[in-house]
Amino acid sequence: NTDVRESMYLVSEFAKDYFHNTLLHSEEGKAIGLSYFKERGFTSETIKKFALGYSPEVWDAFTKEALGKGYKLEFLESTGLTIPKDDRPFDRFKGRVMFPIQSMSGRILGFGGRILGNDKKAAKYLNSPESDIYHKSKVLYGIFQAKQSIAKQNNCYLVEGYTDVIQFNQAGIENVVASSGTALTPDQIRLINRLTKNITVLFDGDAAGLRASIRGIDLILEEGMNVKVCAFPDGEDPDSFAKKTPYEELVKYLDENSKDFIQFKASLLMKDAKNDPIKKADLIRDMVVSISKIPDRIQREIYIQECSRIMDISEQVLVSTLAQLVQKDV
Ligand code: CTP
Ligand code: MN
Ligand code: MN
Ligand code: MN
Ligand code: MN
Repeated sequence: NTDVRESMYLVSEFAKDYFHNTLLHSEEGKAIGLSYFKERGFTSETIKKFALGYSPEVWDAFTKEALGKGYKLEFLESTGLTIPKDDRPFDRFKGRVMFPIQSMSGRILGFGGRILGNDKKAAKYLNSPESDIYHKSKVLYGIFQAKQSIAKQNNCYLVEGYTDVIQFNQAGIENVVASSGTALTPDQIRLINRLTKNITVLFDGDAAGLRASIRGIDLILEEGMNVKVCAFPDGEDPDSFAKKTPYEELVKYLDENSKDFIQFKASLLMKDAKNDPIKKADLIRDMVVSISKIPDRIQREIYIQECSRIMDISEQVLVSTLAQLVQKDV
């Protein structure tokens, strides 16, 4: 229903302004929220560009303000900004710094809210729930700020988190979006595909994340996109790395460490296989599955040659394994 959605957009827009103004102008916002962002190295310009905000540590400060301005409780609740409670509905994001999530055209769809500091008891990030206007699997954080640069650079950097996107922008690299901590979905890939065929996945520098992320990348190949990957030093994520690296050095690092995904995966799997032939057989099949996702036949052929070399196995074996997976076009 269009009217319902329009009301939800309006209340979300109001919330974005309220949180942003609270961050910049209230005593609590300045003392807690603004100093947190400054500590992370965000400039005033960056805070404005991403409309970052602060939600007061008060039961219903935002909800009361919104109701007072005439916004209906129904839409405060359906957007998830307010949590229902018989006597006194309350603010979902109270006491958090706020990251508005925007559509390609700049509409406010939802929010991520981060606790201050590193209290292990509360979830670090709280996000808006699924709603008629917010579908987590269909949005990419930062796409509104990134779209022109993605088209111009003909490449899109994909990172995990809100602060990775923001820190890259501040460093002068604007063609960056975040999947917000989950594996990329086909809808998200198609958003990028409208702007470029080239995607570079940037991993947090923790080994656990690496192997998990690699599995999701087959989906990107399936959409016919060219995928590169780039890892960061141990313990660094794109945010922490960009924060301490001057622009020229950052660009140089990205250029030198971005590797073709298929080659990268083949090398990684070979390290895992060591000298175990059974394990190696499994990993070769895994590799061929990735190659089978590539729609272009010639590209597949080139990758077969590459993998044969990297994994030290005959092209014939790879080709016949591939033939079992790709019936159509071989
Ligand atoms: N995330 C989330 N809920 C959590 C943890 C993470 O939604 N409880 C999402 C957020 O979008 C986050 C992303 O996953 O930005 C990546 O998570 P992580 O690397 O842990 O967070 P950072 O972005 O590095 O956050 P920070 O630097 O603020 O600690
Ligand atoms: Mn919908
Ligand atoms: Mn992470
Ligand atoms: Mn991170
Ligand atoms: Mn981080």
